[in-house]
Amino acid sequence: MLNLGLVGFGYWGPNLARSFSQLDEVNLKYICDIEEKNLEKIKRSFPQVNATKDFSELLNDVSLKAIVIATSAVTHFQLAKKSLEASKHVFVEKPIALHSKEALELIHLAEKKKLLLMVGHLLIYHPAIEWIKEYIKKGEIGEVLYLYSQRLNLGRLRKDENVIWSLAPHDISVALFLLEEEPLEVIARGGSYLRYGVEDVAFLTLTFPGKKIANIHVSWLDPHKIRKLTIVGTKKMVVFDDMESSEKVRIYDKGVEPVSTFKPYSEALTLRFGDITIPSLKMKEPLTLECLHFINCIKEGKKPRSDGLQGLKVLKVLEAAQRSMNQGGQPVKMKETKI
Ligand SMILES: NC(=O)c1ccc[n+]([C@@H]2O[C@H](COP(=O)([O-])OP(=O)(O)OC[C@H]3O[C@@H](n4cnc5c(N)ncnc54)[C@H](O)[C@@H]3O)[C@@H](O)[C@H]2O)c1
Repeated sequence: MLNLGLVGFGYWGPNLARSFSQLDEVNLKYICDIEEKNLEKIKRSFPQVNATKDFSELLNDVSLKAIVIATSAVTHFQLAKKSLEASKHVFVEKPIALHSKEALELIHLAEKKKLLLMVGHLLIYHPAIEWIKEYIKKGEIGEVLYLYSQRLNLGRLRKDENVIWSLAPHDISVALFLLEEEPLEVIARGGSYLRYGVEDVAFLTLTFPGKKIANIHVSWLDPHKIRKLTIVGTKKMVVFDDMESSEKVRIYDKGVEPVSTFKPYSEALTLRFGDITIPSLKMKEPLTLECLHFINCIKEGKKPRSDGLQGLKVLKVLEAAQRSMNQGGQPVKMKETKI
């Protein structure tokens, strides 16, 4: 049994508490939150767990092997740093930190202390995303030309971070995971309509090597609830719709192909409208898979899929997007991440 502590029991923390507490190999020993009302909730929902306001209780318990951080982003760096310094493995929710140099410090600290540092990029543990990744790797969709994702809803407004920092880490992590590359350039534009200076809607364009484009539209001020990713390849097109309860992935055998004989340009391409197929996926809750991955990596001494380096790569895109948005949508060049 691995003793684990969780800090942050607001909106997301209870989901992590539930998932970790359901794993056979985990003993959820502490849940920490600074708010009195959340302490009461912890005691009601997890009566067997130590509920505390004092984070140092977790740090000082030598039997505690790992700490899960689900507090607001502004606290991630300090809490993760203290946890690593106290020799605990760390799972920190996205984004890993607010500044690249903080993320780098965490990566180096974890390396030095031979501890695991994992970032909560939930979607890359989604069975549908894993399936699409394999499908791309097998060459089934041909070369990826571009992709776009939409994460839209009305509500869960935040005042301490804008919609890019709140929602786009999911889509950025998926784009980086599927394309296995970092963007060369980031452009972002956004609008704040509800609170001065906090963008409610944003459009990001990431340009990757080979002119691949990833477009990301995030909003908490939208009439639709959409969580959708479309990938267009030279052979096929794939749509992942996370709002669908079962048929989450559709493969469109559609494309444009050159005809073999020489013809004038307008006649030299033919459109192909083939079948639409729906693969059968073994669905499991992504959050359970993510939590299990963290525990298995600790047990087996493996590097997590969303390790500190992945967290840093996503953070660099967030920083570039913020800079671009601040400059009215000016392109921001990116350098390859080296640690
Ligand atoms: N993976 C996902 O799909 C997903 C979804 C939502 C949120 N999140 C992430 O989870 C994290 C928390 O988001 P949320 O929506 O639950 O925020 P929230 O504000 O609802 O909850 C944060 C909680 O942390 C507590 N807290 C803050 N500082 C603390 C400290 N120093 N010590 C102890 N407790 C402290 C607060 O009292 C609060 O209860 C964020 O990083 C967010 O990005 C992830």
